[in-house]
Amino acid sequence: MLRGRGLPCEGFSAMLPRARREERAPGPGVSMPTALVTGANRGIGLELSRGLIARGYDLVAVCRQRSPELAALPARIEDDVDVTSGADVAALATRLAGVTLDLLVNNAGILLRGGLDDLDLDGVRRQLEVNAIAPLRLTRALLPRMARPAKIAMITSRMGSIGDNSSGGAYGYRMSKAALNAASVSLAHDLRGREIAVAILHPGYVRTDMTGGSGQSEPAEAAAALLDRIEELTLENSGTFWHAQGEVLPW
Ligand SMILES: NC(=O)c1ccc[n+]([C@@H]2O[C@H](COP(=O)([O-])OP(=O)(O)OC[C@H]3O[C@@H](n4cnc5c(N)ncnc54)[C@H](OP(=O)(O)O)[C@@H]3O)[C@@H](O)[C@H]2O)c1
Repeated sequence: MLRGRGLPCEGFSAMLPRARREERAPGPGVSMPTALVTGANRGIGLELSRGLIARGYDLVAVCRQRSPELAALPARIEDDVDVTSGADVAALATRLAGVTLDLLVNNAGILLRGGLDDLDLDGVRRQLEVNAIAPLRLTRALLPRMARPAKIAMITSRMGSIGDNSSGGAYGYRMSKAALNAASVSLAHDLRGREIAVAILHPGYVRTDMTGGSGQSEPAEAAAALLDRIEELTLENSGTFWHAQGEVLPW
């Protein structure tokens, strides 16, 4: 399969094949597409990593500390990267010189509890740093490494939806994901001319450490649905806020 770099828009669908690696091993002189995932050591990020490898990607797995599960995957692992550290992210971009990314998935995130009664403003700031500022920083730093065409997926939350907020609370998390959504729409506009499409994706309520193991789906199911949405991403629908199951969510 051709990587699609330099091709017009139809290259997007060809870039994200459903076929498994062994079914689509490239011929001589043809390279695999490359994806980078943050928060790749556990939870949804680990399953996105597994899923991308199964769908035929070369994977750059970014994390603070590799887990045994991640270490077992056939991926280039970039650990010691705190996405809130400008120095770590700049060093990562330097190490990736020569790598061309077809897909960047900003997945790393945190959820800190805290409502009005136990409001923790440091926690609000921290969530803004990790969930909103860090994905923008990483995206900016890695833009010179992006293919043309390419895709960016922002793993956000419907808790960042203002229209969908019927229960209040979760100040830092809601504010940070709403800010991420705003940044992502600007990126969709600003990167269109560079043939980079941006998906803004809610994974569903998923059983991970973030939710204390409660939820409605397993990380692998959520990751598969997210990857299906990424397959459907084009320059035409760039900037859309989707549930992983395909529903378009309100802002
Ligand atoms: N689970 C859900 O129901 C749900 C719902 C909506 C949205 N989401 C979103 O989905 C994404 C993944 O969530 P999850 O459920 O898989 O959570 P998780 O199991 O808690 O995993 C979070 C990941 O983010 C990484 N991370 C956090 N802070 C980081 C930092 N400063 N630098 C680098 N990596 C950092 C963690 O790395 P460490 O191991 O180093 O901490 C971990 O790999 C998040 O953006 C979350 O907001 C999840």
